[in-house]
Amino acid sequence: MKLPLGRQPSRDEQETIAAEGIDNWNTYLRRFPKAKDRDRDRALVEWSGEGSIIRNIYGEEYIDCLGGYGIFSLGHRHPEVVAAVKEQLDRMPLHSQYLVNPITAEAGRRLAEVTPGSLRRTFFCNSGTEAVEGALKLARLYTRRRGFISTENSFHGKSMGSLSVTGRQVFREPFQPLLQDVTFVPYGDAAAIGRVIGRDTAAVILEPVQGEGGVIVPSDGFWPEVREICSKHDVLLIADEVQTGLGRTGALFGVNHWGVVPDILCLAKALSGGVVPCGSFTTTDEIFASFHGNPMWHSSTFGNNPLAATAAAKAIEITVRERLPERAARLGEGLLRRLRSLQAEHPWAILDVRGKGLLIGLEMRDEALGAALAEKLYARRVLVAYALNRPRVIRIEPPLNIPEDLLDRLVEALHEALPALRD
Ligand SMILES: Cc1ncc(COP(=O)(O)O)c(C=O)c1O
Repeated sequence: MKLPLGRQPSRDEQETIAAEGIDNWNTYLRRFPKAKDRDRDRALVEWSGEGSIIRNIYGEEYIDCLGGYGIFSLGHRHPEVVAAVKEQLDRMPLHSQYLVNPITAEAGRRLAEVTPGSLRRTFFCNSGTEAVEGALKLARLYTRRRGFISTENSFHGKSMGSLSVTGRQVFREPFQPLLQDVTFVPYGDAAAIGRVIGRDTAAVILEPVQGEGGVIVPSDGFWPEVREICSKHDVLLIADEVQTGLGRTGALFGVNHWGVVPDILCLAKALSGGVVPCGSFTTTDEIFASFHGNPMWHSSTFGNNPLAATAAAKAIEITVRERLPERAARLGEGLLRRLRSLQAEHPWAILDVRGKGLLIGLEMRDEALGAALAEKLYARRVLVAYALNRPRVIRIEPPLNIPEDLLDRLVEALHEALPALRD
């Protein structure tokens, strides 16, 4: 396929790119056994993104209310992130791994400035699952214990370690045996953690709000109680902020809502600035010192790369400067209110509306209704998707800087789509 560079594709080129794109996707990448009609739809071929808008190859615009499952907190191609990354690309995209890279060091400092409490030592990696893997290993190193406590319906990633603490059987089952020392308790139940925590527990791992579990917001007492239990037993508390981090829930970090300082905090998704994948886990000097025994116990070739670090440092700077967490809180409250009135109009379709900031879940009465609603919104050029662990929940996770009129259009599209679900 020959791609037009620096200009819009002609009509013929659009057709060729769309046809080849669909064909290559289905031949080389698709994991579902059989292509559905939808998989042959050429309009599905995406071409560009800008702010809260995605354009397909034909130039048709979609409002991105999915935000790449949490990647696009700053929208697509934030100009400042793109400019900084381009500059770094022209100078030194990847690092020697021998010399000191000041850009990555700067990103570490920026993270330390904003992470809660005395969390200030960071390990950079490339994805959420790697951030969780590293956090689990560090917890074992520091405590010299083996066990983990996680929650039912949690999602922490799909590599072997993070999958071991992911609370969804259907993802785990084919890959057993995973880590053996993991106990799952219901999310939001601090007393249950208190009952199973023991002398061999290294860490408790939790999402501030369960994202893939269907946007489950815990009671205000939950995190502070878990913090207390962990401290009492000298067990580390790992906050998996891969989805909630950097403003998504209306605070820079989800744990900030409850004034809790975890021992390790994991990030990814939005840390990329929507431009270059980046993950991290951050901890205290004392816990990080566990790596001193052998700094090569944990390492990553691409982990500290300056291109990703540039994106991360810019993402943090912009999020703080533009007060995006506050904006997410305000817009989220308004949107929740409007969605609740939609629920009151269509109680036969919507079972619950919940969320925090701009991490919002619309729980439909069943999975088929959820899938049909996502399709109807797609037909109206609005992108949403279901939560991985609870597919009847439609998640709404737009960029934190989304123009308000685009949220109005989301609500309008829902107004039109919901009655059509009865047809
Ligand atoms: C809370 C949480 N942790 C970890 C992950 C895994 O991140 P990644 O897909 O980048 O490996 C996800 C992904 O959705 C997530 O939501």
